[in-house]
Amino acid sequence: MTAAKAAGSVAAAAAAALSVALLSYFVVSDRGFKISWDGNRKISKRKNTCRRRKGLVDAVGNTPLIRINSLSDATGCEILGKAEFLNPGGSVKDRVAVKIIEEALESGDLVQGGVVTEGSAGSTAISLATIAPAYGCQCHVVIPDDAAIEKSQILEALGATVERVRPVSITHKDHYVNVAKRRALEARNRTSTQGVTDKTEHKDFVQMNGHISKQTESNPSSADCRGGFFADQFENLANFRAHYEWTGPEIWEQTQGKLHAFVAAAGTGGTIAGISRYLKEKNPSIKCFLIDPPGSGLFNKVTRGVMYTKEEAEGRRLKNPFDTITEGIGINRLTKNFLMAELDGAYRGTDREAVEMSRFLLKNDGLFVGSSSAMNCVGAVKLAQSLGPGHTIVTILCDSGMRHLSKFCNAQYLADHGLTPNATGLEFLECS
Ligand SMILES: Cc1ncc(COP(=O)(O)O)c(C=O)c1O
Repeated sequence: MTAAKAAGSVAAAAAAALSVALLSYFVVSDRGFKISWDGNRKISKRKNTCRRRKGLVDAVGNTPLIRINSLSDATGCEILGKAEFLNPGGSVKDRVAVKIIEEALESGDLVQGGVVTEGSAGSTAISLATIAPAYGCQCHVVIPDDAAIEKSQILEALGATVERVRPVSITHKDHYVNVAKRRALEARNRTSTQGVTDKTEHKDFVQMNGHISKQTESNPSSADCRGGFFADQFENLANFRAHYEWTGPEIWEQTQGKLHAFVAAAGTGGTIAGISRYLKEKNPSIKCFLIDPPGSGLFNKVTRGVMYTKEEAEGRRLKNPFDTITEGIGINRLTKNFLMAELDGAYRGTDREAVEMSRFLLKNDGLFVGSSSAMNCVGAVKLAQSLGPGHTIVTILCDSGMRHLSKFCNAQYLADHGLTPNATGLEFLECS
């Protein structure tokens, strides 16, 4: 081999080694490397990081901001959806669960081995059940007994204990939220007086209202429970802070501050309050709007300053009023979390609009979203129509349609409610 050939081989080997090293660096490093195909089937490198996450909690957040192509093209605005359904527990509530548990551990209100209790039939319970074990904590959930049975099955499969109670008004001491609060207090009292719990004394709640809740290790009455903490998603401002300190800054970064408006529905109000407040602090000219489902009093509160008529006040209404098929959004009382919101206005959305929107997104964008996400997109289009083309609007894709298979995403259920979708475009949107 000549000296020149030898030098050439060395150079080739070095180049090959360098490429392998570079490739493995990108594949395994925190810098991130994402393979994606463009129209010419070329591999391209994305700027966006795709770093390794340290454990489940680190995998919460940093969700993609997706351009919703169909709605953007139809309105001439950039309509962007924050894909919160990609969180490990499947919804925007993962952030809230992390923040509530972290703040409680920091303050000492919750200790490792303690139980987090919550009254929730929805995503928050699933997120708490998902996240609590990562902090060495347990989870006890109280839900109304008319909630879909799959909900308790999911929660129990996640290791939470579930207590099903009769649905009553929030003003009643046995409303599921009030029962959850009581369970935390009982667990705390028992721990402080006995150090450990006496299993035989506290069987009352597991059979409440005729429902049997499994007696497992994570039940607040189990022997090794180390105190209880009521998550209280409606009034605990950790919920607001999850979005003010976390979701809001992510949206700001992902849009590089170039957004004109934000819109979302409210359940506890944590999401809309945290994000609106953060964005307005960064740039007061960003407009923030509520989209409100049927039966909720928030539209009136935002637009007229009056929450509800006397007849509609919680505690006076029918025990189980049927207002809307959307889930997790709409409320008839002012929560501490919602009171933190900074809003410029509100839109109303109907069930039909939400159903049609969900089918429109599935057909045109391949986005399979739940009822609150669909309602948020209804709000985004109404806002786009009132601002006019050329604006960037952000909304939240809270959870996936997978969570709604028995109702919102079930053809028979929709037919039974006269809501079978039949639109071909966006003509279903009513003027607000
Ligand atoms: C699926 C879903 N979307 C949206 C919301 C509303 O979010 P927030 O409670 O932050 O107002 C909830 C609240 O429970 C929910 O479960």
